[in-house]
Amino acid sequence: MCGIVGYLGRERAAPVLLGGLQKLEYRGYDSAGIALMHDGALTLIRRRGRVSELQFAEGFLGNAGIGHTRWATHGAPCERNAHPQRFGKVCLVHNGIIENAARLKEQCLARGETFSSETDSEVVAHLIDGEYAKDGDLLKAVRRAARRLTGSYALAVLAEGTEEIVCARMRSPLVVAVGQEGVFAASDMTAVAAAGRTAYVLEDGDFARMTCGKAELFDASLVPVARAPVPLAAERSSDGKGAYPHFMRKEIAEVPQAVRATLKGARIGGLLAQNKVLCQTKYLHIVACGTAYHSGLCMKAACERIARIPVQVFLASEYRYAEPIVPADTLTVAVSQSGETADTLAAAELAKEKGSFVLGVVNAPHSSLARLADAVLQTRAGTEIAVAATKSFNAQLAALYALAARLAKLRGKGTYPLGAFPALCKETLSACENVAAWVPRFAAARCVFFLGRGADRYAALEGSLKLKEVSYLPGEGYAAGELKHGTLALVDERTPVVAVICDEALADKTMNAVHEVYARGAPVFLVTPFRELCRAREVTASVVIPHCMPVFAPMLSVIPLQLLAYHTALAVGADPDKPRNLAKSVTVE
Ligand code: AGP
Repeated sequence: MCGIVGYLGRERAAPVLLGGLQKLEYRGYDSAGIALMHDGALTLIRRRGRVSELQFAEGFLGNAGIGHTRWATHGAPCERNAHPQRFGKVCLVHNGIIENAARLKEQCLARGETFSSETDSEVVAHLIDGEYAKDGDLLKAVRRAARRLTGSYALAVLAEGTEEIVCARMRSPLVVAVGQEGVFAASDMTAVAAAGRTAYVLEDGDFARMTCGKAELFDASLVPVARAPVPLAAERSSDGKGAYPHFMRKEIAEVPQAVRATLKGARIGGLLAQNKVLCQTKYLHIVACGTAYHSGLCMKAACERIARIPVQVFLASEYRYAEPIVPADTLTVAVSQSGETADTLAAAELAKEKGSFVLGVVNAPHSSLARLADAVLQTRAGTEIAVAATKSFNAQLAALYALAARLAKLRGKGTYPLGAFPALCKETLSACENVAAWVPRFAAARCVFFLGRGADRYAALEGSLKLKEVSYLPGEGYAAGELKHGTLALVDERTPVVAVICDEALADKTMNAVHEVYARGAPVFLVTPFRELCRAREVTASVVIPHCMPVFAPMLSVIPLQLLAYHTALAVGADPDKPRNLAKSVTVE
């Protein structure tokens, strides 16, 4: 979603800001802009479209500036709604949503002020400008304005007449970093990570004042505070696509190492440290969104089978409104790649309020979720750039399966070694070479169904989400046995069906669904470890994946589905790394 950068220092700001914005491009956006301060005057450059549209400004003068990539919420994606937003002497970039913007705007209009955009963010510029006019103290002005805001915000603010950038954070991530070249602000560590710099993560209610060579942090009452420094290393995973044409393809290839690193991390301390809580756990609640929600469903299948603990999986966006019943000794697991998903954070917060211990399964170690959770089980997928989650899904499965295995062991329900999975993932990748050849049937499809039973159904749900988001083909992940209760009406020869069959005990049942769709003319594609099933006349093409315990099979069966989505995206001319309308990290509700 929206991204923020800020810089003040010895270098010219424009190239620093543009470099930072390029690193934030993966989050998804539809317009971008920068503002530069030079000789006390502000210059704004904004464009609809890519950051590269701003490149002409690289030579512009000014040693302080702010920049933004915008993913439209309030107002269309166009130049006047792009950030920075300016009013009077004040210019700012904003992530988040100001919930009382309409009421505040009415007050500004009543004072005779005019607006040049449809954004909620411009309202904030109006408020700060009004406050700044009172005493010329930007930090105090931002704080006074912030007290009138409800909603979420990460702000970086410049004002004519000062040589400083003021930042504020409320429920939207923001870091400041200090290096030899100057001080930086960003909504995402990725934009400021460089060897030798130290970052400070702002907490909700914090303010920061960046002046030459210095970043001062303040709490909500403007009392100076110290936040724990985070040493930054140069970002390694974002340093390019290597030999791959797209990040999505590279990240699928990185699945084995993501799984290996996550399992190793879970062994060395990640879970052992939580023995007391795990021994007491009687119920498991999982809160997550999108792909992470699907990893939660896979965990339900595994944990209920091997540890015999009841698991409820909640869409985080529904959790708050479901008035969840959280019995004593419920362990709530919040799963998130970014650790910044607004709904997942809100659900985790509510679970804590209800007295549950919250375990964050999170890929970004300094994220809001990592700091909110009582304990963290880190997924070690490395930075994931493509919007479509791939290696992070497998890493979530690794962490969650390790948790299920630990719970089973603590309950005397047996041991479930997972150490073979990195090699099995590698073997699966090698078995997928023919998936690209399936694509013509998918690229021409009207609709695609992914079928499975038990844990296979959850892999099917994830396969369907992947295909939809990167290739824009409508489709559904469906319980194989449920198809004939209505949805079979959609199936014809232009409806390819992918069947996932990894559980021998359920194979015949899912094959019944295969017979049903075949009889309606659908081409059938099979993902299975059972070679004999692939010989059935109903099967158009198949991928034979390695055998593993059926409840853990989504770890392997999802890999051909990720590749299918990738290749189909290419065939329909879509950019698999940047699907339209989507953002990598969904920081608004
Ligand atoms: C899936 O490919 C998407 N990127 C999306 O569904 C994602 O999993 C969801 O938005 C949750 O994100 P999180 O893991 O960062 O919380």
